[in-house]
Amino acid sequence: MRKALVAANWKMNGRRSANEKLIAALVAGLDQAKAGAVDVVVFPPAVYLADVRQMVSGSMIELGAQNVSLESLDGAFTGECSAQMFCDAGCGWVLVGHSERRAMFGETEDVVAAKMRAALDADLSPVLCVGETLEQRQGGALEQVVSSQVVSALSSLSVPMLSRVVLAYEPVWAIGSGLTASPEQAQEVHEMIRAVVAGMGGEELAQKIRIVYGGSVSAANAELIFAQPDIDGGLVGGASLKAEDFLAICRASADQAAVG
Ligand code: PGA
Repeated sequence: MRKALVAANWKMNGRRSANEKLIAALVAGLDQAKAGAVDVVVFPPAVYLADVRQMVSGSMIELGAQNVSLESLDGAFTGECSAQMFCDAGCGWVLVGHSERRAMFGETEDVVAAKMRAALDADLSPVLCVGETLEQRQGGALEQVVSSQVVSALSSLSVPMLSRVVLAYEPVWAIGSGLTASPEQAQEVHEMIRAVVAGMGGEELAQKIRIVYGGSVSAANAELIFAQPDIDGGLVGGASLKAEDFLAICRASADQAAVG
């Protein structure tokens, strides 16, 4: 059985005092929520990683970075942080290929693939984000776009490396829009992604790899989304900034794991 994962992508939000309140509420609430059945990871802005590391210390909450340099060796890369640096700062996870980075910061499939390798070489577990735009979905290109994103990011990785990857299906049109893929729409794509992974690394890997859903996940819709057989948790943006909402989402995932 795959262990569920619920991840909080804070994006470019937060200040020290707000972060403190949010994490304190999560630490207190997660114990009550019996969320041991779920991996919970927060991805704060890089400048707050050291602070948040202290705040989550001793709790079940793990830490991740929102982005990573594709360069592995130290050097003249102004503004960049390497995967080794994020490990050194206490991160176990990193988001790679988020659609905002692909669309706004020009990350191509080659860049995403290089970041996957840099993360894995440094022992960070990457959460690879993939997903189609509304135009691509309406134009019938969903399967081609998503499978090409998966294959291009994963094809140079060995099976042991692949087993440390988490995939996040995030339809671009559902991110921050309040629109969510229906549980059935999401399930259909998750199943397709799992088949692509099976084609690359075999059925055993495909059954093991976790595929989480992202795109306007909320306290109200989490339960139905997580009930789908190929959905192993969520990558949560907006709702992860409100402790109550994020806790409810973690609880929905833990309940599902219990039903599992
Ligand atoms: P959202 O963001 O939950 O605000 O839609 C999800 C994401 O971009 O990871």
